[in-house]
Amino acid sequence: MNKLLVGLVLSLGVAGSAHALQGDAAAGEGKVAICSACHSADGNSIMPNWPKLAGQGERYLLKQMMDIKSGVRNVPEMTGMLTNLNEQDMADVAAYYESQTLVGGVADADLAERGEAIYRGGNLKTGLPACTGCHSPTGQGNEPAGYPHLAGQHAQYTIKQLTDFREGDRTNDGDIMVMRTIAERLSNKDIQAVAEYIQGLR
Ligand code: HEC
Ligand code: HEC
Repeated sequence: MNKLLVGLVLSLGVAGSAHALQGDAAAGEGKVAICSACHSADGNSIMPNWPKLAGQGERYLLKQMMDIKSGVRNVPEMTGMLTNLNEQDMADVAAYYESQTLVGGVADADLAERGEAIYRGGNLKTGLPACTGCHSPTGQGNEPAGYPHLAGQHAQYTIKQLTDFREGDRTNDGDIMVMRTIAERLSNKDIQAVAEYIQGLR
């Protein structure tokens, strides 16, 4: 592991809060009707700018919903949609989506080659750590730590997130700015390549 990665992992460990709300997937199923219009009933959204939620980690999903509800993460498409859900409701919804099976995607072969090199090896010259350290070699993330599952996600959505982190338009990655620090080291071409690779990863 390179130095930046070790630093980021250590600080994340310290910052990680012990959030122990337990969601109920069966109860969550009854609370997602309004969400299905965009994210689909089983969490496998069709439109590439709407993220797939199926199979995503419960802890990560709950944090995002709380961040979106409070406005810490700005998602204009979801304005008002979480107003009637309390923390337990959101934990149930998170458990429901985690229990769904993700339908993966296909990667553009040419771009994916460059993307794989970044994902697995990072970039020594720019100090970019490999993505595998936190998101795992298969892209399944780390549920207990709250590191999101990435594999199979729409490339268009991933491109927007990495660009938003880099430009400071998404800032809910904690006080140590883990993803902002990483995205700063990615060019537009790197972002496109790694997002393609992730779309086809399983
Ligand atoms: C009108 C479409 C729309 C509806 C309806 C909608 N969402 Fe979203 N949702 C989005 C978009 C677009 C994003 C990503 C925004 C961005 O680019 O950052 C998103 C992001 C999310 C994320 C973050 C995913 C991630 O990987 O970080 C979660 C969790 C989420 N939505 C849950 C919900 C829930 C729960 C509901 C129902 C209460 C809902 N959404 C309803 C459009 C929608
Ligand atoms: C030190 C750990 C760490 C490393 C290394 C790391 N990430 Fe992340 N990543 C995170 C965390 C933590 C989050 C969730 C931030 C939050 O809570 O909003 C995240 C979020 C993301 C998201 C948003 C997911 C979503 O559904 O919205 C993407 C995309 C992403 N990372 C891609 C990458 C890529 C590509 C790399 C390698 C170039 C990488 N990450 C390296 C920790 C890491």
